[in-house]
Amino acid sequence: MKQMREMFIYTSPLWLLLIATICAMPPPPPLQCSQIGCIFYSSYGAWGDRKDCHVPNVTYPATQEEVRQAVAYANRNKLKLRVVSKFSHSIPKLACPTSVSDDAFLISSAKYDSGIHVDTENLAVTADAGVGLRELIDKVEEAGLSLVAAPYWEGVSVGGLISTGAHGSSWWGKEGAVHDHLIALTLVVPAPASEGYAKIITLQAKDPLFNAAKLSLGLLGVISKVTLSVERGFKRSVTYNFTSDEEFEEELMEHARKYEFGDITWYPSKHKAVYRYDDRVPINVSGNGVYDFIGFQSTSILISKSIRAAEKTMESTRNVKGKCIVAATSVGSKQLVANGLKNGLIFTGYPVVGPQAKIQTSGSCLYSPTFDVTATCPWDPRIDGLFFYETTAIFPAPKFADFIRDVRKLRDQNPDNFCGVDIYNGFLIRFIKASGAYLGQSEDSVVVDFNYYRASEASTPRLNQDLWEEVEQMAFFKHGAKPHWAKNRNVAFLGVQRKYPRFSKFVAAKKQLDPENMFSSEWTDEIVFGKEAAKGEDQGCALEGLCICSQDRHCSPEKGYFCQQGLVYKEARVCRYSQSTDFEF
Ligand SMILES: Cc1cc2nc3c(=O)[nH]c(=O)nc-3n(C[C@H](O)[C@H](O)[C@H](O)COP(=O)(O)OP(=O)(O)OC[C@H]3O[C@@H](n4cnc5c(N)ncnc54)[C@H](O)[C@@H]3O)c2cc1C
Ligand SMILES: *[C@@H]1O[C@H](CO)[C@@H](O)[C@H](O)[C@H]1NC(C)=O
Ligand SMILES: *[C@@H]1O[C@H](CO)[C@@H](O)[C@H](O)[C@H]1NC(C)=O
Ligand SMILES: *[C@@H]1O[C@H](CO)[C@@H](O)[C@H](O)[C@H]1NC(C)=O
Repeated sequence: MKQMREMFIYTSPLWLLLIATICAMPPPPPLQCSQIGCIFYSSYGAWGDRKDCHVPNVTYPATQEEVRQAVAYANRNKLKLRVVSKFSHSIPKLACPTSVSDDAFLISSAKYDSGIHVDTENLAVTADAGVGLRELIDKVEEAGLSLVAAPYWEGVSVGGLISTGAHGSSWWGKEGAVHDHLIALTLVVPAPASEGYAKIITLQAKDPLFNAAKLSLGLLGVISKVTLSVERGFKRSVTYNFTSDEEFEEELMEHARKYEFGDITWYPSKHKAVYRYDDRVPINVSGNGVYDFIGFQSTSILISKSIRAAEKTMESTRNVKGKCIVAATSVGSKQLVANGLKNGLIFTGYPVVGPQAKIQTSGSCLYSPTFDVTATCPWDPRIDGLFFYETTAIFPAPKFADFIRDVRKLRDQNPDNFCGVDIYNGFLIRFIKASGAYLGQSEDSVVVDFNYYRASEASTPRLNQDLWEEVEQMAFFKHGAKPHWAKNRNVAFLGVQRKYPRFSKFVAAKKQLDPENMFSSEWTDEIVFGKEAAKGEDQGCALEGLCICSQDRHCSPEKGYFCQQGLVYKEARVCRYSQSTDFEF
């Protein structure tokens, strides 16, 4: 009966109308402005610290000269300045200029997005920083060329993806991270009054500042243009092998060497590993397949909401078995539809062969047709859909297998406790080649991503959160992984400077280009430079990954979560549920 009533509510025209008026179905713009300024969100509708970002003034330059004027304006008026793209898809609060004063200014690159110049002769493409990855790739492919590296998610700007070290998966050539395909980079940086308060500089490989600027989190200046190298157009041939997870960590390096674009997904609760066999093939091989990753497809609002509602119920009733059923269904359906690979309209069999542009990166939910008011990206903040954390740890390759062996020990104690990550995408394991960028990977690396439930209220502890915390601490503190700059909870960034052997070179470049620290904020100071956050209320701070617990009050003793040591990594301090409180009843 209740279900019927809910069905009725969901399908009633009134409800649809309501949704239609609050959302044009593509993702919401990150900036919401009124007379008194703007509030600014990440694409998930929340920052790591959950606090809003207020900015008194935003500008939308459309040309490089307008970017220069904006930087000059901020410099002349001594304002803190940060940049954000039209997507705002980074998770840490790096793009927020400051919360404590009105002396802040934000540049949005949303309207600086038209210039794309493909240089077929020199195999290069130059784009304005606000250009979206999809437009860039399509223009390159129209000219018969291919961009080799890109993140799997296409909802990013060229400036944003370079700035955060976005990557796909490859150890071949110079592949892996996009910034290693940079030929040149144009920055707008502050200048003395005599030079008009701001100037435009172009850096190339031979320039000593190039390795600092390649991946610079918007800390050196505003990127206005990037030039990337491209190759003759090619296709890819992809097969997934859903198989046992036995000893996959021993085969992983071999897999990376054998397949140019290989990756592996591990579903620990299901004892499954999924090998992606993925190589380039000549452009004349037949096949017009696409990879429309299932997690990035437009999803019915009804489905997203009910998944979230079910997840919430399982959380509050501590229903691990329920999560395992969902995980089994989810992994099973991914196998059936090959994760979203399509030979044509649908998946009909392996291998799927398609053009590089259609295989490397996807995000069809970004273009949810506006007439279809019933579907969005599943995490759309307007619909009370999925809400999750995303941990991304980058390991020096030789250390990665030890990490997996540790996670395995934890898994073997009770595999069902890992169903919570398998509902999402398990552990996605990818490869990044060594880079010259000071804030990039100085050696060939292995990256793991995993997502897990995030509660709607910060004070609500989560089922098995002790495990995700232990895995997080194992990765970052036991095995020396580095956090992806655009993902993760704040704890992952503790001591990050010490993990980058060339960090001081980056700092020197910043002193040179941004001597007044115009492009720094409380968050860049905290996340990138390791300055201790202003100590506010630290009650429950470990729940949201704002601290590592050392006392029970950092967890949630009133809800039965106490600060305890790790099960496998004894040095870990995690918030664990303990039934002892139940005895009081
Ligand atoms: C669903 C999803 C999937 C993802 N998949 C991947 C993946 O497969 N691989 C991967 O590596 N990452 C992935 N990411 C992370 C993604 O690559 C980053 O979030 C990306 O950098 C965001 O780009 P953006 O244009 O939205 O940048 P923003 O979030 O707008 O900005 C990111 C940072 O760059 C700075 N910045 C932006 N533009 C400029 C500019 N013009 N000049 C100077 N600084 C600038 C900002 O100040 C900020 O510090 C994913 C993210 C999501 C949400
Ligand atoms: C916002 O910035 C512009 C410069 O881009 C400036 O002309 C304008 O006065 C500023 N507005 C406020 C309210 O500070
Ligand atoms: C799948 O992977 C397993 C483990 O590496 C291997 O033994 C098996 O032959 C593979 N199957 C296919 C079809 O490639
Ligand atoms: C593709 O083109 C190459 C020459 O460029 C040729 O040798 C090859 O036979 C062609 N293959 C197919 C499948 O047409």
